[in-house]
Amino acid sequence: MHVAAVVVAGGRGERFGGPKQFAPLDGATVSAHSVRVARSVAQLVVLVVPDSYAGDGEGADLVVTGGVTRSESVRAGLGAMEEVDIVVVHDAARPWASRTLFESVVAAVEAGADAAVPGLSITDTVKRVSVEGAVTVVRATEARDELVTVQTPQAFRYTALVRAHGAGGRATDDAALVERLGGRVVVVPGDEANVKITRPEDLRAAHRAGGVV
Ligand code: CTP
Ligand code: MG
Repeated sequence: MHVAAVVVAGGRGERFGGPKQFAPLDGATVSAHSVRVARSVAQLVVLVVPDSYAGDGEGADLVVTGGVTRSESVRAGLGAMEEVDIVVVHDAARPWASRTLFESVVAAVEAGADAAVPGLSITDTVKRVSVEGAVTVVRATEARDELVTVQTPQAFRYTALVRAHGAGGRATDDAALVERLGGRVVVVPGDEANVKITRPEDLRAAHRAGGVV
């Protein structure tokens, strides 16, 4: 099957304090690692960058400018490619995603799902809260065994993803847009090592641990 990847690197890295996706990591940049692993399943890799980007493309085949939201950046990447069978969307800020993880989300879509996401079970107890002025109050304790946290890479049937983004829309991941249209999204086992770099300590912790695994 024809597989393309959109690696989104169009964010501002506000919580990190700068464009974390281009920070140096193990002799390359964070984004270059993400592009390289995406290439293990994709014949075409599109990198989405901020409009201020002045780099060399991080090894991607195509480089396009993103938008204000992550969803707009994904749409910019989708708009740069021809129709394919499967699209994999990956956050540039997850440079430690494994080839196996990419292969397993693609395999789940090949097997018939509209989309596949890596999910991790939750070990902490999760409570629903509401904020009352200066105080946060617990409203309920959630059934933990019915919840997962999800990562990228996320794989999609091309037509399902294009339709999901067709109406515009905004969500913190692309699977949510497919869910809204009633698509079947399956969960494959995620990887604890597939951390999203969000704050400076996420990258510092990796350097302490010896860099890329
Ligand atoms: N992203 C993007 N375009 C945006 C926003 C985010 O391509 N308008 C990308 C980021 O570059 C990142 C991924 O989406 O690889 C996940 O987003 P996040 O971790 O939130 O990164 P930032 O938005 O850059 O960080 P922050 O929210 O702290 O500003
Ligand atoms: Mg963000």
